[in-house]
Amino acid sequence: MTSLFTVVKTIVAVAILGCIAAVAFIYSGLYDVSATTPDNAVVAWAVHAISEASVAARLGVNTVPAGLDKPETIRAGGRLFVENCAVCHGAPELAPTPIAQGLNPSPPNLFAATRKPDEKENFQFIKYGVKMTAMPGFGRSLGDDQIWQTVAFLHKLPGMSKSDYANSTAAMVPTTN
Ligand code: HEC
Repeated sequence: MTSLFTVVKTIVAVAILGCIAAVAFIYSGLYDVSATTPDNAVVAWAVHAISEASVAARLGVNTVPAGLDKPETIRAGGRLFVENCAVCHGAPELAPTPIAQGLNPSPPNLFAATRKPDEKENFQFIKYGVKMTAMPGFGRSLGDDQIWQTVAFLHKLPGMSKSDYANSTAAMVPTTN
């Protein structure tokens, strides 16, 4: 009968061999990090699933402020979107920029009519970004109020037309009333 000691020895030996194999693989150069080659399907799935689960686990602290549907809030968010996001996420009827074309994973199309934006989730994505993807965390450069303005704008994006986009991102002009 196999003793417990033998079992433990075997597990330790396998673990050490596994670590040696992992380090050898890391330094071998076998894994292709080029952004222009598609990710291995398992890696692509894992990166996406980890990102979704991580964001979902951290939403609890985000309290959606009142007034996100105010036109001036949405317009302010629109201007922030043009300055900070359109280079990767695009705009209606605009061909993907060279930066967007070169990203792996590709930036999701936030204008797709089928999207159902979630405010807390979008706040989390924008404030903290996503490691190992090109999605930057804007928590270092934008205040929470600006991030919520961007979230308010994102809520209007699904199916937005080119002219609505132009209107909602135009410079704010004083109104007469
Ligand atoms: C340099 C490119 C880049 C910039 C700039 C950028 N993003 Fe992203 N964004 C990405 C990529 C790539 C992803 C996909 C991340 C992933 O696969 O998990 C992403 C993901 C997202 C998501 C998650 C969407 C989803 O459901 O998967 C949101 C929301 C988002 N970005 C909003 C923004 C906003 C708003 C801005 C500007 C304030 C912005 N992004 C700026 C590249 C960018």
